[in-house]
Amino acid sequence: TTYDVGIIVGSISSTSINRRLARALTVLAPEAGLRLTEIPIRSLPMYSADHDAAIPAEAAEFKRAIEASDAIIVVTPEYNRSVPGVLKNALDTASRPWGDNSLAGKPTAVIGMSIGTIGTAASQQHLRNILAFLAAPTLTQPEAYLQIQEGLITDDGTVTDVLTAEFLMSWLVAAREHFERARPALEPIPA
Ligand code: FNR
Repeated sequence: TTYDVGIIVGSISSTSINRRLARALTVLAPEAGLRLTEIPIRSLPMYSADHDAAIPAEAAEFKRAIEASDAIIVVTPEYNRSVPGVLKNALDTASRPWGDNSLAGKPTAVIGMSIGTIGTAASQQHLRNILAFLAAPTLTQPEAYLQIQEGLITDDGTVTDVLTAEFLMSWLVAAREHFERARPALEPIPA
């Protein structure tokens, strides 16, 4: 079976390199048994506890899209050695109202690309912390830290370097295996 996986991109920049990376993963994914669809975060309002009583339509739609996915891949930039605020806002939105955490038990995998040589490692570490708190089991190995290189990924999501394309494919295969292993987390615990 092919898994339906939601991709959350932690950047709303019109020239986002991480959206390009998400596109590249989407192109490669079918060969790893995954069908990737972006779950957009651009129009989410800033989360407030006031929303718990009356969830904004965009937030409700975002939560439903996560819940309908077999697994979630988060592709994130690094902002000031952490996750961008737009991504934190999206995760906060998904986690509430209390008792209705859309990410609970959802298998996840994290990846990212940045200018710096550590390739979003600090950002991903913070992201792993958040996902652990939200009870969303995360792929541990292989880690995927990518550095921006001119021409590495074309507009249509073609990866021009063979070794990078092979690495991304092996990461997707590992993610698929993790999603399979983590699936029992989605099933109710037998009485
Ligand atoms: C950055 N950038 C950055 N890069 C990095 O490697 N470590 C960091 O801590 C930061 N911090 C940071 C903060 C802010 C506010 C901006 C705007 C940028 C650079 C970042 O890697 C680069 O802008 C990427 O292109 C961002 O990813 P997207 O939006 O292109 O996907």
